[in-house]
Amino acid sequence: SLQIRGALNAVRSLVEESERTGRALPRAVVTHSSGNHGQALACAAQAEGIPAYIVVPRTAPQCKQDAIRAYGATLVPCDPTDKSRAETASNVVQETGGVLVHPNQEPAVIAGQGTIALEVLEQAPQVNAVVVPVGGGGMVAGIAVAIKALRPDVKVFAAEPSNVDDCYQSKVRGELTPNLHPRDTIADAVKTSIGPNTWPIIRDLVDDVLTVSEEEIKRATWLVWERMKLLIEPTAGVGLAAVLSEQFQAVP
Ligand SMILES: Cc1ncc(COP(=O)(O)O)c(C=O)c1O
Repeated sequence: SLQIRGALNAVRSLVEESERTGRALPRAVVTHSSGNHGQALACAAQAEGIPAYIVVPRTAPQCKQDAIRAYGATLVPCDPTDKSRAETASNVVQETGGVLVHPNQEPAVIAGQGTIALEVLEQAPQVNAVVVPVGGGGMVAGIAVAIKALRPDVKVFAAEPSNVDDCYQSKVRGELTPNLHPRDTIADAVKTSIGPNTWPIIRDLVDDVLTVSEEEIKRATWLVWERMKLLIEPTAGVGLAAVLSEQFQAVP
């Protein structure tokens, strides 16, 4: 239920804008995605009858690629780097005349992901910290904006695989430090780096970044499968791995 929030908010905003201005709907929506935002955008666009083009790294899990096609979108393969994703998507925008809906830098996507925080505050008002996996940072930025506006006493932590620790490095250095040569990680959905729109929010509103090893991610994911009987993907295990880490357990 994560990515559909941002994708729906972005597509509905485009539809509402065209209704308000009397201009035609966009010819298409275009994005690049390791799979989850791509599925969500394909689903949201299909609901509004807008063609969707999703640029996906060739290494993305087959089940995610199949789901994108099943939502009626056109899949465009690219190399598994942020550079190739961005360049391929930009070419597709030129060719189709579509609108780019960035998977994590688009403000409507960030705001949509922030609705997670509203539900957390409503369902668990006693919360004193939230831990959020970070890839491009749309989810943690949206959540941080909402939490710090409504409950500034609640701490917000980003959780990141140590193999792709650009968010951690950015916080340490105090400047945006994208991962130019990311190592591989089982948490495929957070391999991408934070960007120019999410970095200032993370810099100012995220309290700290917790990094976890591949082993910790696997152990946390297994734990959820076995004890909670929930079929999560490893990226979702990154948050629990961080919560179970010594570093987090030592937070006062
Ligand atoms: C399951 C899951 N968790 C976390 C994230 C991280 O989101 P963001 O790229 O906005 O940081 C993603 C992104 O695709 C995801 O699919």
